[in-house]
Amino acid sequence: MIGGDGIGPEVIAEALKVVDAAGVKLDTTEFDLGGARYLRDGEVLSDATLDELRSFDAILLGAVGTPGVPPGVIERGLLLKMRFELDLYINQRPFAGTGPGHTEPHEFIVIRENTEGPYVGEGGALRKGTPYEVATQGSVNTRHGVERCVRYAFELAASRPKQHLTLVHKTNVLTFAGDLWERTFNEVATEFPGVGTAYNHVDAACIYFVQDPHRYDVVVTDNLFGDILTDLGGAVSGGIGVASSANLNPARTGPSMFEPVHGSAPDIAGQNKANPTAAVLSAAHMLEYLGEADAAARVRAATLDPIAGSTTQIGDALAARLAG
Ligand code: IPM
Ligand code: MN
Repeated sequence: MIGGDGIGPEVIAEALKVVDAAGVKLDTTEFDLGGARYLRDGEVLSDATLDELRSFDAILLGAVGTPGVPPGVIERGLLLKMRFELDLYINQRPFAGTGPGHTEPHEFIVIRENTEGPYVGEGGALRKGTPYEVATQGSVNTRHGVERCVRYAFELAASRPKQHLTLVHKTNVLTFAGDLWERTFNEVATEFPGVGTAYNHVDAACIYFVQDPHRYDVVVTDNLFGDILTDLGGAVSGGIGVASSANLNPARTGPSMFEPVHGSAPDIAGQNKANPTAAVLSAAHMLEYLGEADAAARVRAATLDPIAGSTTQIGDALAARLAG
């Protein structure tokens, strides 16, 4: 358990309350990590701490990031380090809700590649601070990395009633990376004849997420497009306060990590204002991953009817629904 910074510990406390009410006894260990810890003693995520984390079945994370820490220190040093070093190559983000202007609910899942793309940190700066400064930031896409992500998305789509998978990229401009993604997608598709497929450019997908979200079942995309698109997914599906995610190592060579899509929201931290539903739904996915599918389904069902109130009121109400 890594509560982290800002609203992170508040929403994780409610998630654990709800898990408990669902009747699952988790053996938890708390790790004090995040921006506040970094400011205190300089630790972001040492290799020794990372090795400790490797022995757990799952990691439940609230949010990390504190004002006063330069951008990138905690993001790269903690969150991305866990994603990369634990090989959490799938970022699974489900969306369900009724979009603004719609009357029919939609339900779809975005599979975001989680270990490659522009996130790897390839590039650098030359002549920094001069008028001739050069900054490059490469996008790294490997056949292996793309294929395992695309195959996971096809397997997921094959397991769902609609059996449909959409590739989102920008093949008309990113002709090298886009070509690798498209060819891989088309080749893996031949192994899944029952799964219908589509392709959208990422800009068009932004329109469809808002205007026609019903067309989607499973969406697969690269790391950066997936980051941006899943904020939009949250915005059209009840808000970022209910958007959950799972950082998965499907090979199970180490723990997977479950976290809300939202950040640490320092502006509302400590005020009992944050909606814990995103953390609760992330914990539900964790339960499913840990083999507690029945409890996971009950937790998800408890969240279907929205609850207004403070962080603790929402947590208490969800726990009461599960107990009753
Ligand atoms: C997310 C977040 C992270 C990301 C940040 C905090 C590094 O925005 O999980 O979507 O960009 O992946
Ligand atoms: Mn994001």
